[in-house]
Amino acid sequence: METSVCIREGRAEDVDMLEKISRQSFAKSWSRDGFLEELLSKNRTVWVATREALVVGYLIARPVLDVLEVLSLAVDPLERRCGTGSKLIKKGIESEGGWSVVQLEVREDNPDALMFYRSMGFEKVGRRHRYYSSQTDALLLSLVLRSAF
Ligand SMILES: CC(C)(COP(=O)(O)OP(=O)(O)OC[C@H]1O[C@@H](n2cnc3c(N)ncnc32)[C@H](O)[C@@H]1OP(=O)(O)O)[C@@H](O)C(=O)NCCC(=O)NCCS
Repeated sequence: METSVCIREGRAEDVDMLEKISRQSFAKSWSRDGFLEELLSKNRTVWVATREALVVGYLIARPVLDVLEVLSLAVDPLERRCGTGSKLIKKGIESEGGWSVVQLEVREDNPDALMFYRSMGFEKVGRRHRYYSSQTDALLLSLVLRSAF
């Protein structure tokens, strides 16, 4: 890719691009209203990756005390393997500082995401049996940034 990707906070007008990327990325996508709710919520952090002002990826996270919980992360299929997912996670971590842990659930049958999170240093810390409606297990992944002790 010739131009670089920038990361900025998500805005309500990004909703259609977020929904589009989500539909391209997940068998079961969040609805447009679901994304709008996240974009307008004060308890959420939404970061979007843009290339030439076009949204090419997003990260939605929820701060819970000193834990940053990743609720959704996706990159436009044509933009993958260019470092955008990593940039979004790093922005989430650096945004406010003070996080002890970043954690998330990921489908056990999503090898691309598992490879991605492993490359970022996440480790498997648990399993939620039949977590998804398809009865697939979720793996609980965690990235420890600083010890709570
Ligand atoms: C997971 C996802 C967000 C990664 O985004 P990305 O922009 O492609 O990730 P990056 O380019 O930053 O990848 C960083 C590293 O992760 C690893 N990685 C990423 N995707 C990988 C894949 N498909 N296979 C193997 N390793 C992969 C590689 O080590 C990669 O570095 P490299 O390209 O220099 O080898 C993207 O694949 C995606 O949107 N998937 C569909 C949605 C999804 O599954 N989201 C996560 C659900 S919890």
